[in-house]
Amino acid sequence: MSRLAVFTSGNGSNFQAIAERIASNRKHTLVCMICDRKNAFSFTRAERLGIKSYYIPYAGRTREEAEKDISDVLESEKIDMVSLAGFMRIFTCGFVSRYSGRIVNIHPALLPKYPGAHGIAESFASKDRELGITIHYVDCGVDTGAVILQKSFIRDFSEPIEEIEKKIHKLEYSFYPEAVEKLLDAF
Ligand code: GAR
Repeated sequence: MSRLAVFTSGNGSNFQAIAERIASNRKHTLVCMICDRKNAFSFTRAERLGIKSYYIPYAGRTREEAEKDISDVLESEKIDMVSLAGFMRIFTCGFVSRYSGRIVNIHPALLPKYPGAHGIAESFASKDRELGITIHYVDCGVDTGAVILQKSFIRDFSEPIEEIEKKIHKLEYSFYPEAVEKLLDAF
């Protein structure tokens, strides 16, 4: 049984999808949710799901200071693996190297296209017919780590961004929890 921490910055719908899968399969433990934004909806989800949460602010301090707090939680909670789910911060290379191969992320675009915070909007604005998601290991670049899995769909150009967004989230909820669980099997 491996121990997972999920990181969020906002809504937390991927966190919830992961939590539900882990709870129903009972192979691993989702120990805690860590969030850098005080009023994020992910805290409400954590409370409803009965999962411990930690608020670790970045505002007004260095990344190293925030990462020291994160490391303290990961150590004290004996976390094996971290899954980023809408966590909108970039880790320093020092932090990533300490947890090498143990941090994964979901990105709402077919990397290396459209990295960063606006993957859905930039995918939508593109002329690409094929859109999708990427699950990848985290390095200290912006969405540049090794790809674990990509899933895509062929877009219909008459669809508004809301429809595209729904399709992307549907792929995320179908494939990210499963991929996280498989990776946890290996620890
Ligand atoms: C998700 O679509 C995720 O792929 C994206 O943020 C959203 C978070 O939604 N992540 C990134 O853009 C990372 N660069 P959620 O908080 O409801 O899970």
